[in-house]
Amino acid sequence: MNDPNGLVYLDGEYHLFYQYYPDSTVWGPMHWGHAVSQDAVHWTNLPVALEPDSLGYIFSGSAVYDSENRSGLGSPASPPLVAVFTYHDPTGERNGRDDFQNQGLAYSTDRGRTWTKYAGNPVLPNTTGIRDFRDPKVYWDEPSAQYVMALAVRDRVSFYGSRNLIDWEHLSDFGAEAGSHAGVWECPDLFRLPVAGEGTEKYVLLLSINPGAPNGGSGTQYFVGDFDGTNFRLDEDFAREVTDERGVWLDQGRDNYAGVTWSGEPGHPEDRLFIGWMSNWQYAQVVPTDPWRSAMTVARRLQLHDTPSGLRLYARPVAALAGLRGDPRPLTAGENDIAAPCEAVLSLQLGGADTTAVGFELANAVGERYRFTYRPGEGRFYSDRSAAGTAERYDGFGKGVAKGERIAVEDTLQLRIILDRSSVEIFADDGATVFTELLYPTEPWTTLRVLSRDGDVARGTVYALASVW
Ligand code: FRU
Repeated sequence: MNDPNGLVYLDGEYHLFYQYYPDSTVWGPMHWGHAVSQDAVHWTNLPVALEPDSLGYIFSGSAVYDSENRSGLGSPASPPLVAVFTYHDPTGERNGRDDFQNQGLAYSTDRGRTWTKYAGNPVLPNTTGIRDFRDPKVYWDEPSAQYVMALAVRDRVSFYGSRNLIDWEHLSDFGAEAGSHAGVWECPDLFRLPVAGEGTEKYVLLLSINPGAPNGGSGTQYFVGDFDGTNFRLDEDFAREVTDERGVWLDQGRDNYAGVTWSGEPGHPEDRLFIGWMSNWQYAQVVPTDPWRSAMTVARRLQLHDTPSGLRLYARPVAALAGLRGDPRPLTAGENDIAAPCEAVLSLQLGGADTTAVGFELANAVGERYRFTYRPGEGRFYSDRSAAGTAERYDGFGKGVAKGERIAVEDTLQLRIILDRSSVEIFADDGATVFTELLYPTEPWTTLRVLSRDGDVARGTVYALASVW
């Protein structure tokens, strides 16, 4: 599987559709797989929701609950869930056409259990002459009383508007002079978020790009600004940070791509629930897992904070994840026995710029190591998986070290580490900086060594995590 698709909340259920090829562990004719959850932690897989047809494979897209039945695809008594996705026609692509990606609809009136493709597909045919025309993310924009679609078009985002999800009109384009264009733009997501504690609101535009991420391959950048129903305009200060091909990145690790947020979740005015595909197109097809390949990140709540570095998205694991914790055990400076899956929470004193590096190291019985450190003198984190096992066999996987700047300025570094058998998700400073990294040790991790200044661990706890399955 790859990208999360159709993230929508309805009647107590989080729906998670995803790019899925049922017949192989390498990418192929794309379907939408389907899972549901009541807490965004425990998932139940359901039958495949959408299969390829004569118009093509079912590429990434989104879903909305059309509560007023504006599409007419349900009824007032039974409004539909509507999925908006890209049809990718492999024959057209092979024949060198430039109109092989078009947008289509499917709808469900039984809580997403069965789906009907709209008979008039495609609803938004590609007349742009640009081949990359995909990944529609749709939401109801209350102020302008229309559905708004953000669509990735080569290395721009095009916005389209519609009253009924069927007839679409081009509104504007964004991105020519903003962010990184080192690769193709994919999987946009536009949503509104308050600035935490400030009573103001902004629009955030998530945007995945492949290749061109600062640590190699696939990555997700974002933009902060305003949307007036037609145009997305960057916040003035933020605009300065995304000039000259610079981007602001959601995750400093190498394995959080194509992530988007849930529509329709009630009761969370302060944040947006997000999930990403925990891989990277550099090596997604060859990582050593069997009989499965790829997984999602843990679901995370995104919040917008005004920081010394500017407006930034923080990401924190969804609260229900803490429900998996077993009894707490203290972590000591030095070596601690651990076994994945587990969660470690660490507070480390930084002291002055003379502190060389703090963080942690994982090790196993065959001497493989993964090392995550913060160097106060540089203000930078380092995630080094070059000695973490099977890395060298997979091109681009173990090469080098992922680096990321620290946002917060506190004297204590907080790390929350979610360790699974083949991944680590590290939330530093309450989610200000996040590293999501795949790890494939040949033997299980058995120890976690705390790297601290003068052997000083302000606070350290480890919890075994129960399986979500
Ligand atoms: C992103 C992506 C999307 C596309 C899908 C195909 O990972 O390339 O742009 O819709 O995957 O599976």
